Amino acid sequence: MGSDSGNVQKREQWGSRVGFILAAAGSAIGLGNIWRFPYLVGKNGGATFILVYLIITVLIGLPVMLAEFAIGRAAQKSPVAAFGALKVNPFWSVIGWMGTIAGGFLVLSYYNVIGGWTIRYMIASFTGLMDAAATADQSGAFFGSFIGKQAEVVLFQVVFMAVSMFIVLGGIGKGIERACKVMMPLLFIIVLVLIARSVTLPGAEAGLDFYLNPDWSKLEDPTLYLDALGQSFFSLSLGLGIMITYGSYLGKDERLPSASLWTAGLDTLIALLAGFAIFPAVFAMGFEPGAGVGLTFITLPAVFAKMPGGTYVSFLFFLLLFFAAVTSAMSLMEVATTFAIEKFSLRRSDAVWLMGIIIILLGGYSSLSLSGPPKITIMGKSKDFLDAVDYLCNNVFLPVGSLLACVFVGYVWLEPAKKELTSDGKFAFPWMGAWTWCVRVISPLAIIYIFYMGLAW
Ligand code: TRP
Repeated sequence: MGSDSGNVQKREQWGSRVGFILAAAGSAIGLGNIWRFPYLVGKNGGATFILVYLIITVLIGLPVMLAEFAIGRAAQKSPVAAFGALKVNPFWSVIGWMGTIAGGFLVLSYYNVIGGWTIRYMIASFTGLMDAAATADQSGAFFGSFIGKQAEVVLFQVVFMAVSMFIVLGGIGKGIERACKVMMPLLFIIVLVLIARSVTLPGAEAGLDFYLNPDWSKLEDPTLYLDALGQSFFSLSLGLGIMITYGSYLGKDERLPSASLWTAGLDTLIALLAGFAIFPAVFAMGFEPGAGVGLTFITLPAVFAKMPGGTYVSFLFFLLLFFAAVTSAMSLMEVATTFAIEKFSLRRSDAVWLMGIIIILLGGYSSLSLSGPPKITIMGKSKDFLDAVDYLCNNVFLPVGSLLACVFVGYVWLEPAKKELTSDGKFAFPWMGAWTWCVRVISPLAIIYIFYMGLAW
C-alpha cells in the first residue's frame, strides 16, 4: 500500500478485464441512476423518454466515452498530464485541469455529503426512522432536523470520505478493482430484491403505469432532450476526465469499444431497474413521486414506513445507494489522487491524504451551507453552496469538458485515436466510420445545444 511513487515505478494496471469493466461501471452507476433517472423517465413520458435516452446514449454518450478511454490509454497518464504525453498543443490540458478541479474537488465534495446521509439513513432504518417517517410531512421534518445538526452531518460525511480514501489507498487493482468486484454484484442483487418487494405490493400497477406508459406527445417538448442529454453525460461519468484516468490504467490488449459498450450497458440497465424498485412502491403506498433529495430522503422513508418489512427494505435501499455512491466517489477521488501523484511526485498514500483533507474541507462547507447562510447567486437565482456546485458542474463543466474532448479527438488527434481504438490494428472495429462522424459532428452539435439551453434556463 502506498509504495508506488508514480514516476519511477511501472504504472499499475487493472488486474482483469472484468475488474476494469466493473470499476468503470461502478463509477458510472451512482446517485444519478437511482434518484434522477427514474424520475426523469416518469416526468418525460415513460417509455418515450427511455427510447430517446437510449438513442442519445448510443449516438453521443458512447462515442465520448470511447474518446476518453482512447486518450487515457494512449497517454498512460492523469488527465492533466495526458495531453503533454500525447505531444499536442498544451492548450488541450485544459480538459484535464477542468476535469480534475470540477470532478475531483467540486462534484466529490457534494457527493460525499450525500454519501454521508446514506450511512446515517442505513443506521436510522433500525433506530427510529420508521416511526419518525410515518407521513411525508413527518419524514420531511426528520430530514430537516438531521441536516440542521451540523456536527452530525459533517461526521457522516467524513466517515463516507474515509471509506473511499481507504479504498483508493489500496491503488487500482487491490483497492478500486477489488472493492468494485464485491460491491457491484451486491448492488445488482439488492436492486433485484427491492424490485421483488416493490412489484408485489397491492396497487403496484399504478407505479408501472407512471413509469412506462409512453406519451408520444412529449417528443415535442425540448426539455425531454435536454434532460436526456444531461442525464446521459452525468450518468456515464463523462466530461471530467474520469474515463481518461480509468483508461490510463489499461493495457493494449483491452478492446476499448466492447469495454465502453459494457460500461454504458450496465449503467443503463441499473438506471432502468431502479425505476422498477421505486415507483411501484411509491404508488402502492399512495405517495406522489418527486426527484433527488426529496424523493430519496423524504418520500421513500415514508413509503418504507408503511410497507410490511419496511425496516429491512429501507436498510437495503440505503445500502444500495451507499454502494452506488461510494464506487462513484472513489473514481472521483482517483482522479485527484493520480493528479497529485504525478504533479507533485507524491507517494499514493500521501496523495490520498492531501487530496482527502482538501475535499473534506470543501465538503464541510457544502454540508454547513444546507443549514446556514452562505448563498451564491447564479443567473439571478440564489442557491446554497451544494446546489450551486451541482448546477455549475452539470451545466458548465460536464458539457464543456465533453465538447473539448470531442473536438480534440475529432479534429486534432483523429488518426492516433483510430489506431488506439483498434489497439494498433490488432482488433477490428467495424463502427469506426460511425464513431468518427459522432465525435466530429453529432456530439459537438448536441452538446452546444444543451449548453445553450442549460444557460438560457
Ligand atoms: N456517474 C455518477 C452518477 O451517476 C456520478 C459521477 C461519478 C460523475 N463520476 C463522475 C458525473 C464524473 C460526472 C462526471 O451518479
